[in-house]
Amino acid sequence: MTDYRRLRVALLGAGAVGSQVASLLQQHADELADRAGARLELVGIAVRDVDAPRDADLPRELLTTDAESLIVGADIVIELLGGIEPARTYLLQAINSGADVVTANKALLATHGPEIFDAADQVGAEVYYEAAAAGAIPIIRPLRDSLAGDRVQRIMGIVNGTTNYILDRMDTEGADFADVLADAQRLGYAEADPTADVEGYDAAQKAAILASLAFHTTVPLDAVHREGITAIDKSMMDAARHAGYVIKLLAVCERLTGDEPRPSSSGEAAYRDAISVRVYPALVDRAHPLASVHGANNAVFVQAEAAGNLMFYGAGAGGVQTASAVLGDVVSAARRHIAGGVGVGESTLANLPIVPIGRVTTRYQITLEVDDEPGVLATVAGTLSDGRVSIASLEQTVVGEDARTARLVIGTHKALEQDLSETVDRLAASGVVERVVSVLRVEGD
Ligand code: NDP
Ligand code: HSE
Repeated sequence: MTDYRRLRVALLGAGAVGSQVASLLQQHADELADRAGARLELVGIAVRDVDAPRDADLPRELLTTDAESLIVGADIVIELLGGIEPARTYLLQAINSGADVVTANKALLATHGPEIFDAADQVGAEVYYEAAAAGAIPIIRPLRDSLAGDRVQRIMGIVNGTTNYILDRMDTEGADFADVLADAQRLGYAEADPTADVEGYDAAQKAAILASLAFHTTVPLDAVHREGITAIDKSMMDAARHAGYVIKLLAVCERLTGDEPRPSSSGEAAYRDAISVRVYPALVDRAHPLASVHGANNAVFVQAEAAGNLMFYGAGAGGVQTASAVLGDVVSAARRHIAGGVGVGESTLANLPIVPIGRVTTRYQITLEVDDEPGVLATVAGTLSDGRVSIASLEQTVVGEDARTARLVIGTHKALEQDLSETVDRLAASGVVERVVSVLRVEGD
């Protein structure tokens, strides 16, 4: 057996992910040593309750409630606590005491990333966070390293497994949102409080992380436009299917071309070299690779200027799956620690402006219930035309027993979000529209 240098590894957290990381570190110790060029010695595992039951069989003597003592003298600190505090304080302590750090904590990086990266820069340490977006899927390293010589144009990600599971079952089984959410909770995909998933907060954190990397720009969480999936119902699913689409919660990170239209009501200049970061349920053509992402899986579709289209697919969560990404980071951290030198900091040199949602252009599908009377279609078409929204397709069906209501499903060409929303408001107030059933963006072209 090679006599490798020993690196002291402190693990903070032994929950779903941490317990698997601890277990794999021990099971594969020899292999990991060969790959890292150092023996990774797990010196302790910080938890809240040393007597709590664990998913893996962990040596009792490694468990401690004293995280701070564990951090002192560690070469690598793995933070798998979750949440902001005390994770933030511990990570900063680890960095300042000379450790490289590995974290899967998207909530922390999306809110305090710059503070943590700056602290690492100051001391030449490195922060690894492959598991912080899309779990087991390698996407951080491809964006940070493999595509560093290219220009990323757009990322469309299914980055939340819980909502993909819910939407997929609503699509494939015609199930109701509330029933599938209850199943997702029973299966452990969704928390007892599902807000972070179903309202898009979790996806927004991941979008902020991915966009920061892709566009070399600090993307604060509050610059990410966020909508969840709670308004999606069976009739919207049916309408999407009928039109050849599936509804997915997407994280869209996009570089604007500068050719987008400007709001008709303002004299603002076009945005050149700006970005948009948004999370919302969108219609995706069934032929698009993202449409075939089923169950709780994640996928990230990247469009880059030179590389073209790339798709990264797999498990976005799960203890052992996420542990794989964490351990990859631990091996990288160990190699760097052995080689020495200063860590590669985050590249935020571009710092592109982030445009508000009103300046985004996409296609839309607008579903309206209108009075089935002469002239109604002309009023609707005129209102759309006045609002600079161009109709690409239109389907009318008669609904209701009295046959006096028509349902219009209008597909638009690309339109500016601000124009579109003002136009929908005018349609709603026009007197001919009984109900705006839904307005969904169409993504993926
Ligand atoms: P868990 O809630 O399962 O585990 C958290 C662990 O941290 C527990 O062992 C807990 O101790 C410990 N802990 C919490 N607070 C403290 C504290 N103040 N002091 C000491 N120990 C503490 O979390 P997960 O393993 O699910 O998630 C860990 C991280 O990984 C999170 O940032 C999460 O977002 C991220 N992640 C998780 C994924 C998943 O599938 N679970 C997927 C991708 C990322 P005790 O056990 O004693 O309560
Ligand atoms: N709650 C997340 C999801 C898991 O459903 O994808 C980890 O980010």
